[in-house]
Amino acid sequence: MMSKADVVIGCFYGDEGKGKVIDYLAADADAAVRATGGDNAGHTIKAGGVKYAMHLIPSGILSGHTTGIIGNGVVLNPKVLLEEISNLKEHGYDVERYLKISDKAHVILPYHPMMDAALEKKRSKKIGTTGKGIGPAYCDKYERSGLRMEDLYASDFKEKLEKLTESRRELLAFYGMEDELADALDFQRLYESYSRHGEELRPYVCDTLTYLHKALERNKKVVVEGAQATLLDIDFGSYPFVTSSNPTIGGILTGTGLSALDIGNVYGVIKAYSSRVGEGPYVTELLDATGDRIRELGHEYGTTTGRPRRCGWLDLVALKYAKRVNGLTALAVNHLDTIGRFERVQVCVAYDQNGTITEDFSTNLELLNHAKPVYREFAGNFGDLSGCKRFEDLPENARRYLGFIEEYMGIPVKFIGTGAEREAMLIRN
Ligand code: GDP
Ligand code: IMO
Ligand code: MG
Repeated sequence: MMSKADVVIGCFYGDEGKGKVIDYLAADADAAVRATGGDNAGHTIKAGGVKYAMHLIPSGILSGHTTGIIGNGVVLNPKVLLEEISNLKEHGYDVERYLKISDKAHVILPYHPMMDAALEKKRSKKIGTTGKGIGPAYCDKYERSGLRMEDLYASDFKEKLEKLTESRRELLAFYGMEDELADALDFQRLYESYSRHGEELRPYVCDTLTYLHKALERNKKVVVEGAQATLLDIDFGSYPFVTSSNPTIGGILTGTGLSALDIGNVYGVIKAYSSRVGEGPYVTELLDATGDRIRELGHEYGTTTGRPRRCGWLDLVALKYAKRVNGLTALAVNHLDTIGRFERVQVCVAYDQNGTITEDFSTNLELLNHAKPVYREFAGNFGDLSGCKRFEDLPENARRYLGFIEEYMGIPVKFIGTGAEREAMLIRN
């Protein structure tokens, strides 16, 4: 019997609480795999009084018996990864046994974050990137000059790196950036540090595609930990205010080597409200005291950059789009405790686009920037949810809110987050 991989995907602009859902699924999983992005992601797990902020290593590894796999679609900063490894080791994790890195994952070099910052500075319309070098690293990948993990061990590594630094120097001179990035392109220094990083990471590097397929063939439980989210997707998000990868279902496949037939459940993660960090359109954003209150009650400050997140009501028009793009089979709704502190809760059920009412999301910026949310109001004041262990224990107002989301979406809400701690999650079977 072959098993299928369950996938966890963010439905809006990131930070929906994917890490927490993965953490639950990892409790009995053999492997958790990251497919896209890099250390622009920040997945928070609160367990046993300790708060872990995972950027590169799949948070599933925190179960203590799940193999964390960094897939081929990830762009990986070795320095950040080595820090994460050492942090986990300090907390007693057997990282040598439970971490695997794809030999095809691309490597972030010091000039990538610097270029990210320099390009952002030059932009008249800022994207608000995390500054981790994600865009420039994917540019190198698609330009076919990037370095993969396996290149660090190849006999021609030195020549490859030398060629790369040379060609980047020419390119950056073209952009007028050669001075600010000169240090980061010092070949000898790069060669020494990346040879060292390569050696330190060598025990983890393998063919993760074969590993994953063999795991499924042996009926093992595999979960995919989505990073970023649907509306940050380079194709399906609010371009250009997006990340430089496909964090949606297509990118999950190409970023791991799993086929469409290998996918089981696709869980879409949302908060009971919404948030965005960085620039770009956001139809249900609240630029008033209510938005500020959501931010404070939900502690909406970036896990990676510490930036205050923009906050607003839940947007079911965007969520329906995320269902279409990803083939969502069920939802995880986090922060029910946070939204339940409001007396009245609004949820967006349609957009008013210059007098035309629609439930179809479009990423066209003109349409998005002019779309006005049409809200439906629900009673809030859910009260203390900490004692609720089953869906039936939830107060009526909370069940009505979740019931409406299910009805609108046509898929069940399977996971309900009632707090930040690992245990604060209800599961419906
Ligand atoms: P991710 O990037 O999707 O994994 O999400 P982040 O970790 O960046 O952001 C989610 C934040 O919400 C974190 O601070 C979590 O600890 C917190 N969180 C997740 N679920 C819940 C919930 O149900 N209630 C509350 N109060 N906090 C939650
Ligand atoms: P997780 O996995 C929230 C946003 C940035 C910026 C845009 C481009 O924690 O949900 P990038 O550095 O990727 O080039 O930035 O994407 N962004 C995220 N926002 N959560 C994330 O990851 C994000 N990863 C990127 O803020 O707007
Ligand atoms: Mg996050």
